[in-house]
Amino acid sequence: MIEPFDAKNAFSLAGKRALVTGGASGIGQAIAVAFAQAGADVAFTTHSHPGDETAAAIKAAGRTASEVPVDLGRIDAAGAEALMGDLEARFGPVDILVNNAGIIRRADLPVHGEADWRAVMATNLDAVWFLSQAAGRRMGERGDGRLIAIASVLSFQGGIRVPGYAAAKHAVAGLTKALANELASRNVCANAIAPGYIATDNTAALRADAERSRQILERIPAGRWGRPNDIAGAAVFLASPAAAYVNGAILSVDGGWMAR
Ligand SMILES: NC(=O)c1ccc[n+]([C@@H]2O[C@H](COP(=O)([O-])OP(=O)(O)OC[C@H]3O[C@@H](n4cnc5c(N)ncnc54)[C@H](OP(=O)(O)O)[C@@H]3O)[C@@H](O)[C@H]2O)c1
Repeated sequence: MIEPFDAKNAFSLAGKRALVTGGASGIGQAIAVAFAQAGADVAFTTHSHPGDETAAAIKAAGRTASEVPVDLGRIDAAGAEALMGDLEARFGPVDILVNNAGIIRRADLPVHGEADWRAVMATNLDAVWFLSQAAGRRMGERGDGRLIAIASVLSFQGGIRVPGYAAAKHAVAGLTKALANELASRNVCANAIAPGYIATDNTAALRADAERSRQILERIPAGRWGRPNDIAGAAVFLASPAAAYVNGAILSVDGGWMAR
């Protein structure tokens, strides 16, 4: 007897509510809109970019949008708890959290400043933990949920002139596995996506540097920079019923970069 596979609904997010951090631009915006198109209501955090464009796209997909302005470079455990409590009170239970917001600071070792190190750690690691803790506790109590972090190929490699970024992204990979170990038995999956080189603000300086851009492209087997929607597809999969048994994975979405 073959157990039927419900292909029609396996990748649907109908009836789900998601929170995507950094939803006003780049990869986070693509994920927020893709989630709405897959059937989810979507809340998203904003910081320096306005959220109007993302909200309009979510609404155009027929779903509810909710903007949450917050500086994730300054959030602490109490702030994350308050954010999640306030959001759930007006939006409903958050079934899917995507920790996407992140920054990168490039400088050579002798002049890599303490302020840059701390800003990257606060936004790319501390906020991920605090929000995962606040959301993961609620998901665990409800016996259902998905935690998805946007890691990086620099979760595996050291990169060039980005020590804080590489350290934080390695830590995000470790944190994802720790969350998976603790929450899997309560039907909460914790996974990360490790994007390769994606054309967003994050990589604008690299793409503007002809030599670095050429070096990067030469190493990507797919022969092109990634696009935010390349990451959105993986995020929909990890948030969907099809990924119910995927836990603790760091999924490279990099045009083959890590295989090289
Ligand atoms: N692009 C790549 O090649 C690549 C590769 C690997 C991993 N990633 C990761 O993908 C994620 C998204 O980056 P992206 O490429 O889409 O670049 P991006 O367009 O620069 O997006 C970064 C997002 O993070 C938000 N953010 C930054 N600092 C914040 C703060 N203090 N408080 C709240 N939100 C803050 C930004 O919000 P505002 O714009 O509203 O300030 C923005 O939405 C990051 O975690 C990045 O490390 C990117």
